[in-house]
Amino acid sequence: MSFLKPESLKQYVGKMDLEVRLHIDEYWQCKKEVTVLPLMKTLTFNIICTLLFGIERGARRDKLVDLFQEMIAGMWSIPINLPFTRYTRSIHSSKSVRNMLKDLIGEKGKEIQEMGSNPHQDLITCMLSSRNPNDVEEISEEEIVDNKQEEIAKGKHRGESLIWEDITKMKYTWRVAMETMRMFPPIFGGFSQAVKDIENDGYIIPKGWQIFWVTSMTQMDDGIFREPQKFDPARFENPSSIPPYCYIPFGGGPRICPGSEFAKIETLVTIHYLVTQFTWKLSSDDCFSRDPMPASTKGLPIQIAPKKQMF
Ligand code: HEM
Repeated sequence: MSFLKPESLKQYVGKMDLEVRLHIDEYWQCKKEVTVLPLMKTLTFNIICTLLFGIERGARRDKLVDLFQEMIAGMWSIPINLPFTRYTRSIHSSKSVRNMLKDLIGEKGKEIQEMGSNPHQDLITCMLSSRNPNDVEEISEEEIVDNKQEEIAKGKHRGESLIWEDITKMKYTWRVAMETMRMFPPIFGGFSQAVKDIENDGYIIPKGWQIFWVTSMTQMDDGIFREPQKFDPARFENPSSIPPYCYIPFGGGPRICPGSEFAKIETLVTIHYLVTQFTWKLSSDDCFSRDPMPASTKGLPIQIAPKKQMF
């Protein structure tokens, strides 16, 4: 997990910046309409390949994408091990992914852990979908994000990349991301085992039982977050006001997500370029379903226009 340590993460900002700009040049520039979800998946995957695995763009990376997508598609499927089920295809793809990575990275392949999916793309998709100019309340949130981000962009020469210090200034954008993850947690829950008898609301959960914790049950509890249906990034201005284990998009305790800071940098760099270079509106009445990540039913098509001032 050394690649997720803070000293490594600071060095990733420039590399992520380059990946995001390449992505925007290839898929967003000169377009009138884009479909966000598949693009965010592509971007996330490219960042992971470049930063963590060192796999160049090209046929090998494309093959890995296809296998990875198939693997993820079966992650929460019913485990029926018959040929042609989602589950069986996922198991086969998972093996192929691991073999490919071992071949590609040689000895380093032994260090590769089961990494699961990267829910970062779902976070960005949810954030972008809330930027609907027809909604007056949301415009004020947008303006605060845009102003800060444009201030950072104005301090740069053309083509100059973001650095760690820029990321530390994007406090408001991160609060918007946090509030998005409170209302639309990318991971809906996880399994844990009771290490001792626990009493909750008059019920005993005996030691050794497995429980499934559900993120939204806590994050939408009005005893913890007042008016939980209201989108309000200001909730996170004072982190100590939130009781422990009550904001849990990244889980909690000893198995808390070790990739949270990685995801934070990736999110902030991506949002920086999208909000400073484009305006957009939703193309159709898209809505969210769970598959099991929050995913828009139509992949979130949006109409985009370049902002007058390009950085
Ligand atoms: C928005 C993005 C992300 C979200 C919401 C997220 C969420 C989570 C959650 C809820 C868990 C389970 C924690 C628990 O059981 O208490 C987890 C575990 C994990 N995550 Fe993430 N994650 C994200 C991004 C990433 C990234 C970018 C990486 C790696 C680069 C990563 C690597 C891991 C690993 C290795 C674990 C297993 C940790 C363990 O079992 O000890 N995650 N994540």
